[in-house]
Amino acid sequence: MSPVILAIESSCDETAAAVFKQGKVVTNIVATQSVHKNYGGVVPEMASRAHLQHIIPVVNDAMAGSDTRPEDLNAVAFTQGPGLLGALMVGASFAKGMALAHGLPLIGVHHMKAHVLAHFIDEPMPEFPFLCLTVSGGHTQILKVEDPLTMEILGQTCDDAVGEAYDKTAKILGLSYPGGPILDALAQKGNPDKFPFPQTNMPNFDFSFSGIKTAVLYFVRDQIKVNPDFINEHLNDLCAGIQKALVGMLMQKLEEAVKHTGIRQVAIAGGVAANSALRAALNKAAAQSGWQVFIPEFQYCTDNAAMVARAAAFYYDAGIFVNQDAVPLARFPF
Ligand code: KG4
Ligand code: ZN
Repeated sequence: MSPVILAIESSCDETAAAVFKQGKVVTNIVATQSVHKNYGGVVPEMASRAHLQHIIPVVNDAMAGSDTRPEDLNAVAFTQGPGLLGALMVGASFAKGMALAHGLPLIGVHHMKAHVLAHFIDEPMPEFPFLCLTVSGGHTQILKVEDPLTMEILGQTCDDAVGEAYDKTAKILGLSYPGGPILDALAQKGNPDKFPFPQTNMPNFDFSFSGIKTAVLYFVRDQIKVNPDFINEHLNDLCAGIQKALVGMLMQKLEEAVKHTGIRQVAIAGGVAANSALRAALNKAAAQSGWQVFIPEFQYCTDNAAMVARAAAFYYDAGIFVNQDAVPLARFPF
């Protein structure tokens, strides 16, 4: 019988809850924290406090919206890691309290696996094995997904995540946080070839994104010496150049991974999966190279609890639970 699961996500700056019922996700509530906007990044302590304020109303909405009472639940799931420790702690503590009060088993979900399993919320779903490029503010990985809970890392970033590269270069250009979606929108109005930025080529299927941040910083600094208004006058073209370099690096490694494994089902997951140029590049690869491409609905790309609920149902079916002494893990091995 299909379980009824309440799932909570609190790994970074969204407080989210979802209910999985009758084989599907029926509610997906997300409260995005606005307190970080003025700081150019997520302030961990402020994130934890905002989670504390949001978690009860968010869970109440998810439960009420799906007509679910605590007595109906078969398990409570939470994001156990990776993420900000204080932020994870809020979701974990809430889930433990709820499980204890209602005598329910607990499921500790891996955040990056949940991003991948977002592909199983709605049709079309990939078949196993498939490749998944997970691209977020904290991770950049190419995974070979063997089954819902077995994923092999083929390659990953050696330094910054691609979302971090978006946010940091956007900050250099004076854009607010998170800069990725803003940079993406401006890039669509610019010329990607006016300011070419270097693309780092790492061995195997690994990435490095810290170089582009320095390249943009030095380039802009030198240009401003000559023309103090340089950024304003060339903002769209600068964004387009950065976008081209970042997406170019992602696509190069993904193409190599497809060639190496012979797997042509390619999925993307994580916040940067919302990026217009990455989506366009994948659709082009589908049209020209016969890839079967899976791009999640926008609401399931950025952090959400629907993906945690879907993942938790797989954990439930496999009988994978945690005890009350489970601790959140800032770094959580695959
Ligand atoms: O998965 P996510 O919501 O949170 C993490 O687990 O990190 O990803 C957030 C990241 C941020 O770096 C944000 O700038 C980036 O995803 N992002 C984008 C776009 N939308 C979100 N980056 C580029 N283009 C976008 N359209
Ligand atoms: Zn995420």
